[in-house]
Amino acid sequence: MSVVEDVKSKIDIVDVISPYVKLTRSGRNYRGLSPFQAEKTPSFFVFPETQTFKDFSSGEQGDVFSFLMKKEGLTFNEALHELARRAGIAIHERSEQDKAAEDRNVRLRQVLAQAAEYFHHLLMTAPQAAHCRAYAQDKRHLTPETIVAWQLGYSLMDYHALTNHLTGRGFDVRDLIDAGLVVENEEGRRYDRFRGRLMIPIRDEKGGVVGFGSRSLDGSEPKYMNSPQTPIFDKGRLLFGLDRARSAIRNEQTAVLVEGYMDVIGTHQAGFTNVVAGMGTSLTESQFRALKRLAPRIVMALDPDAAGTRAVLRGLDVARDSLERDDAPTFDPRGIIRHESKLNADIRVAILPEGMDPDEIVLASADRWREVIAAARPIVEHVVDALLAHFNIAEPHGKSEAIKAIAPILRDLSDPVQRDVYLQQIARRLQLNPRAVIEAMGLAWAAPRTTRPAASAGARSADQTSPAHHPPDALAPAGAPARAGRVDLELHLIAILARLPVLLTDANVALTRANLEVLGVDDFVNPALRLGFVQLSRAATGQPQSEYNDDWLSLIADYSWSDGEAGAEALLREEAIRTALRLRMENLQRERAGLAFMIDDARSSGDFERVAQYNLRLMDVSAKHLRAQKALRLRGVVVVS
Ligand code: UTP
Ligand code: MN
Repeated sequence: MSVVEDVKSKIDIVDVISPYVKLTRSGRNYRGLSPFQAEKTPSFFVFPETQTFKDFSSGEQGDVFSFLMKKEGLTFNEALHELARRAGIAIHERSEQDKAAEDRNVRLRQVLAQAAEYFHHLLMTAPQAAHCRAYAQDKRHLTPETIVAWQLGYSLMDYHALTNHLTGRGFDVRDLIDAGLVVENEEGRRYDRFRGRLMIPIRDEKGGVVGFGSRSLDGSEPKYMNSPQTPIFDKGRLLFGLDRARSAIRNEQTAVLVEGYMDVIGTHQAGFTNVVAGMGTSLTESQFRALKRLAPRIVMALDPDAAGTRAVLRGLDVARDSLERDDAPTFDPRGIIRHESKLNADIRVAILPEGMDPDEIVLASADRWREVIAAARPIVEHVVDALLAHFNIAEPHGKSEAIKAIAPILRDLSDPVQRDVYLQQIARRLQLNPRAVIEAMGLAWAAPRTTRPAASAGARSADQTSPAHHPPDALAPAGAPARAGRVDLELHLIAILARLPVLLTDANVALTRANLEVLGVDDFVNPALRLGFVQLSRAATGQPQSEYNDDWLSLIADYSWSDGEAGAEALLREEAIRTALRLRMENLQRERAGLAFMIDDARSSGDFERVAQYNLRLMDVSAKHLRAQKALRLRGVVVVS
């Protein structure tokens, strides 16, 4: 792949243009005021699918490179360097070597296109391919149109047939080896890689053949054999069928991912042309990204085994970057949920009927396929369900085990609203107060991590703003980098108290005046900060103090806030009081939301005694919440809740 393509695949034009133009969504596209000339009605459009823009007022149009060139007055080369830098791609100037590699890639594509034609010709006409034709038509129920459309082929049961054919047409055997068609063994002997197999050309997005999949016809192993990784065959990027599925994915705003090549071909033949497959390996972010560009929703059709609890549990343990075998596909829910979050996609799981592959389903009934896909559920829900089903959640121990298992998944969700929604759902399913779930999750988050290096708390200081204006992220895991603009109220309060522990008394006085309980350890979720609070409380009341614990001290050490003249005690006191009130208000708000869910749940199960109990608590909590809000308002802090 060229650097230009690489940059384009990693950079989203919407992200690049956003700092210059306030974009709003308009169907599948974005629009805004022209960045090139003054105008009142927005006539500047960005098209994410094609990664292009057009300005109807000035007539300017182009891709991400031309945008930066025009807007920043850069040359193409400068724009390329800038974007490569942002994408974290190293650029070296195009050397003679690069040019040679590009020329070679052009030749490899020609070789592969010729090979596809050759195999196809054999399947259509060769007497030796009769059994393969029969297999395609009778066993797989492929129509002649399908065989032609996908250019399916047959490789002769012969070690040199392809080599002879292509070298006879002037191709260099070196290129056949580089294209993955010919194998060269240690003794230097060369032979055709694919022999006696049904050949399935694999194409890139633009429809050029870049490799082959092949299926054995006599039960010999391996059942499927692919081209090896080559300069133009990248299993981590390609999606089988994408060239033919593109427009349907766009039109239906949904892409369906299946496991097998034959499933793609079969579903397309039945009229479901938004279906693609990976390369028999675990799906990568770049594959999801390619789909997300066309449609926001991606449905993964999984067989019950792959989607089942055991797979989910196994998947949670998988350290994604170190899969033992790189060709072993695993359903890796954590990885996929991270992709989902990062790409802001809607990834769903559809569970196939036991023992039936997609190609068999559509042969049996097109409606059945429609139903299976329509019944797909959001991946987080699916995974959470699978985990809840696995633990005995009627018992306290099972509940806490379930929470431990689910914690990493919620933690990977970058959208706080989604996280909160799932959290409430889980609390309801476990019949627990959401705050208890939050606490348990906080503990699980603080446990040593195996799949990610511990994030440095120093990342917090990057973008600090006054916590009075930003809601805290109470679910932020200990030590995780704060998302831009979000400050943890808990951390802020502990940092203030660490500077001057007696301010705890002032904060408590303010809370008491507002008829609220004094601060307690349960106001804090982060386990390190909980300990910090306990130790600082002792210090505040002059109790003998053993050594402070390191964890929270290092959190504080890495945390700096713009305290300008807050060195003055009066200002620091005011900050302590406001922060304490805000933290309490947030906690009460959470409790309120949790109770609302509990009431909902009790009501739907007809338990009106519980409904009444929760309602009493809800009234109490709501009143406290109002009091906290009022106390803050009296101190000049306007809070929107
Ligand atoms: P399956 O064996 O599940 O495919 O492999 P399938 O389509 O159901 O097979 P048949 O033809 O109907 O019996 C699914 C995918 O996994 C990869 C291939 O990409 C295949 O399409 N695979 C499978 C391999 O790469 N190697 C194998 O040996 C098996
Ligand atoms: Mn199958």
